Amino acid sequence: METGLSFTVRPLTADDLQTVAGVEAASFTEPWPLELFRKEFAEPGRVYLAVERGKTLCGYGGVMLLGEDAHIVTLAVIPEERQKGVGSLLMVSLIQAAKERGARNLTLEVRSSNQAAQRLYRKFGFEGVGLRRDYYRTEDALVMWAIDIDSAGYEGTLDEMRTAL
Ligand SMILES: CC(C)(COP(=O)(O)OP(=O)(O)OC[C@H]1O[C@@H](n2cnc3c(N)ncnc32)[C@H](O)[C@@H]1OP(=O)(O)O)[C@@H](O)C(=O)NCCC(=O)NCCS
Repeated sequence: METGLSFTVRPLTADDLQTVAGVEAASFTEPWPLELFRKEFAEPGRVYLAVERGKTLCGYGGVMLLGEDAHIVTLAVIPEERQKGVGSLLMVSLIQAAKERGARNLTLEVRSSNQAAQRLYRKFGFEGVGLRRDYYRTEDALVMWAIDIDSAGYEGTLDEMRTAL
């Protein structure tokens, strides 16, 4: 997928992992070990996508497909490319991929203090439904769901997000 901002979307692969290590370190207090990415790439029912500008990896995200429910498992954008729509482009692309594979509902966990990510997710129709206490050891996770993503109404939400890119 190409956008007006000259970002492109493609699969995230093992060749990206050295760069991913740097993005993880810059983005998360508990980065995923690269071995976890390698294991995830080998699992069925996973979609991992990267956004790049030219040859620069700007961000990536992944979704796990569990029948009608899909779980957004990670999302990160390099600090210098944040607030330019890269996270939204990743979300549009991951949600589209999940819908094409039969997902009807989406869920995710996000740090209760992570207002930036929560705002992004709310724009995609996610609502907080509860807290998982100490999910991140010292911090609670807000559990969010977006339901009926196969509905015409939700397709309208996605279209608005695509148009805004
Ligand atoms: C969360 C993250 C992925 C957002 O990526 P991004 O490319 O900056 O997101 P976008 O530019 O598409 O922004 C989309 C919306 O997110 C919200 N948002 C993004 N950054 C924000 C910030 N710093 N403060 C408040 N809201 C923010 C806004 O609602 C924004 O829409 P708007 O520009 O119309 O206000 C990015 O900040 C990041 O990688 N953070 C570190 C890792 C992380 O927290 N990942 C999520 C784990 S659950």
